[in-house]
Amino acid sequence: MAKILWNDQIVSEEEVKIGYEDRGYQFGDGIYEVIKIYNGDVFTATEHIDRLYASADKIQLVIPYTKDVLHKMLHELIETNEVQNGHIYLQVTRGISPRQHNFPTTAVDSVLTAYIKETSRPLAQLENGVKACFVEDIRWLRCDIKSLNLLGNVLAKQEAISKDCYEAIQHRGEVITEGSSSNIYGIKDGVLYTHPVSNLILNGITRKVILDCCEEIGLPVVEEAFTKAQALEMDEIIMSSTNAEVMPIVSVDEKPIGNGIRGEWTQKIQQAFELKIPSSIGV
Ligand SMILES: Cc1ncc(COP(=O)(O)O)c(C=O)c1O
Repeated sequence: MAKILWNDQIVSEEEVKIGYEDRGYQFGDGIYEVIKIYNGDVFTATEHIDRLYASADKIQLVIPYTKDVLHKMLHELIETNEVQNGHIYLQVTRGISPRQHNFPTTAVDSVLTAYIKETSRPLAQLENGVKACFVEDIRWLRCDIKSLNLLGNVLAKQEAISKDCYEAIQHRGEVITEGSSSNIYGIKDGVLYTHPVSNLILNGITRKVILDCCEEIGLPVVEEAFTKAQALEMDEIIMSSTNAEVMPIVSVDEKPIGNGIRGEWTQKIQQAFELKIPSSIGV
């Protein structure tokens, strides 16, 4: 039976009670993180926890634990569930309160839930690449907040799936922002381009790792947005996220990117990324 972190207690699945007036449930009024577990250890945990608290600040939500305490609780959760490979899903809502749009006027405790899913790495896709399609970015203007409000992302991903694609490459007008649940990069003539960090994209943790990898392998990075037309002319396109890692996109709207197979730079970034993955149980 899976064990869940419910506020500051690790409990059995069936003990968790989610209130029907939880503001996360009614308004999507909360924030979340997905954190990868490799070989029993959390990857880039500090960065994810920092981003969680930054998202909380941006929506004036108080997480009643220090970052250190949360870090320890997540390790306990992994150990209790005895998971080697998978991810933690963690969310914090503004808590349970009679439904009204404005924040509760009396003190209400936030509600934290975290659980683990055992998953394996998408090795076949990492090697063979995946298909993507363009989808208009209809989301709000605070995509930097990792908010529970994901309806725009959900609709974009569904459109991609209905077209037999793995990911939707979202664009505002002609300009590419990011994937439905990933960041997007194009490589042209030995330079990697990606949308700059702004309110229009989520500042991905994997994005940061990839930019470090680029530095290590000598691939220059330009944090500049590119258009749909430029995307189709790229030598290589990559999407990245905690679960998708460094994923080659080999066609967009059925048009092959470069040679239509995983590119050489992509492979070099993947190799550099691989070296950063925790290989043994750590705390
Ligand atoms: C909209 C969006 N952009 C980017 C990312 C990638 O972020 P990370 O690398 O931190 O997983 C995600 C991850 O879920 C996402 O949902």
